[in-house]
Amino acid sequence: YRILLVNGPNLNMLGVREPGVYGNASLSNIVSELECQAASMNVSLSHVQSNAEHELITAVQQSLGQQDFILINPGAFTHTSIALRDALLAVAIPFIEIHLSNVHAREAFRRHSYLADIARGVICGFGAKGYHYALDAAVTALQTTK
Ligand code: DQA
Repeated sequence: YRILLVNGPNLNMLGVREPGVYGNASLSNIVSELECQAASMNVSLSHVQSNAEHELITAVQQSLGQQDFILINPGAFTHTSIALRDALLAVAIPFIEIHLSNVHAREAFRRHSYLADIARGVICGFGAKGYHYALDAAVTALQTTK
């Protein structure tokens, strides 16, 4: 299986950015550990991070026919981007929405997601572990639906 990991704005700042909220691990730490997990599960993992909404949309569009599943932490675009929602609907690739923090325990504006209702599932509040849980859930979903 081919799985795409997408990280949105400010996630390149992990480790530096509000460590009390997002933890001390850098994005490259998280991605390299996820690559190990993917290899041990015999799936291929690609990764894209961008601070630009249009680049995330293009990455999702280019996944059509190339990826079987998407793991996405859309960052603040979670709460703003109808365009990212439309891109995910357009390609119709199953995806899991991930947040390091428990978005429901923070400001009210973080409680609404433009993506959650069309996701296979949402994992939030478990820090970097959430990416591992999501990869595990994605592989299980792929093995049971195909
Ligand atoms: C986040 C939560 C979002 O509300 C925030 O804008 C982020 C990170 C998380 O991983 O907890 O950038 O997606």
